Amino acid sequence: MTSKALTVPMAVMGTWAWGDSGKAGEGYFGTQLSESGLREVVDKAQANGFTLWDTAAVYGAGRSETVLAQALMGYDRSEYQLSTKFTPQMAGDGGDPVADMLEQSLQRLSTDYVDLYWIHNPADVARWTPSLIPLLKSGKIKHVGVSNHSMEQIAAADRILGEAGFRVEAVQNHYSLLYRSSERAGILEHCRENDVRFFSYMVLEQGALTGKYSPANPLPEGSSRAGVYNGILPQLQALTHRMGTLGEDRGASAADIATAWAIAKGTTPIVGVTKAGHIDGLTRAGGIELADEEIAELEALADAAGVDTRGWWEQEG
Ligand SMILES: NC(=O)c1ccc[n+]([C@@H]2O[C@H](COP(=O)([O-])OP(=O)(O)OC[C@H]3O[C@@H](n4cnc5c(N)ncnc54)[C@H](OP(=O)(O)O)[C@@H]3O)[C@@H](O)[C@H]2O)c1
Repeated sequence: MTSKALTVPMAVMGTWAWGDSGKAGEGYFGTQLSESGLREVVDKAQANGFTLWDTAAVYGAGRSETVLAQALMGYDRSEYQLSTKFTPQMAGDGGDPVADMLEQSLQRLSTDYVDLYWIHNPADVARWTPSLIPLLKSGKIKHVGVSNHSMEQIAAADRILGEAGFRVEAVQNHYSLLYRSSERAGILEHCRENDVRFFSYMVLEQGALTGKYSPANPLPEGSSRAGVYNGILPQLQALTHRMGTLGEDRGASAADIATAWAIAKGTTPIVGVTKAGHIDGLTRAGGIELADEEIAELEALADAAGVDTRGWWEQEG
């Protein structure tokens, strides 16, 4: 019953950081973002075929969606795709909290449909998944996926949707060199075998795997991500150094290697782009082929770092 097959570029544009106030050192990311700078990001991404934009009602309490819609203004709706999320913990007390949260997202995004709608986490699969069905039928959402769900929770959501002739078409989980729980749990394999698109988020570990940040040049002071990562930057140096040298050989950066690794593993990375130059990196990453030995070496270095980067919002896995 699902309309058209989900078509997805090689990488998805993530906009969590766009929900920050835009002032240096403030918010989750602490990066200085301006309206004109984000418009440049959009123009460059759109021109290079990166036309799928991931956001969530909860990012900056709606600000990410609003800022994204502003930055996309002037593009025809058919030129880009929107991906946003229902977050159970933010549910209102109306009769249909999923429909209500979607309606607010549609308003902020200045559109009447989203291409891909997610249940953000598995707080109550049996309660929230059925609410997607009328939204799929009405065409307000074109495709659905689940995020941060375990294998069993993905299967449960799929059963509920299946009874109405729909299916879980995509999975969105934290997946990076440093955090490979979806691989160990068999979720990657399940997606590959069942034609479910696996979107890997935080492949750059919020900047910690870009090579830009180090103990001498830590993540922005005062930001939430600095609190999470600055303490482990010393353990990451051997890995980011090797990513840097593998990149140099190919005219690329450590960040490009992290993204190329995620692509090599059969996933579609959602990358939190904040600068137009990041788009060049994604284009380079798409052209990099890592040898099996290089992948194994990077994964061994990542394991040797001995860090756990599970997000506070993720269940143990
Ligand atoms: N479903 C979920 O629960 C969930 C959770 C987390 C994230 N996500 C999605 O996944 C997206 C990605 O995650 P994220 O934004 O948290 O972190 P990320 O993609 O791992 O890292 C983003 C940071 O890396 C830097 N960066 C981005 N592209 C770069 C490039 N090509 N080269 C060098 N540096 C680069 C930027 O830092 P600077 O600005 O400091 O340069 C940016 O803020 C989010 O935006 C969101 O859409 C979903």
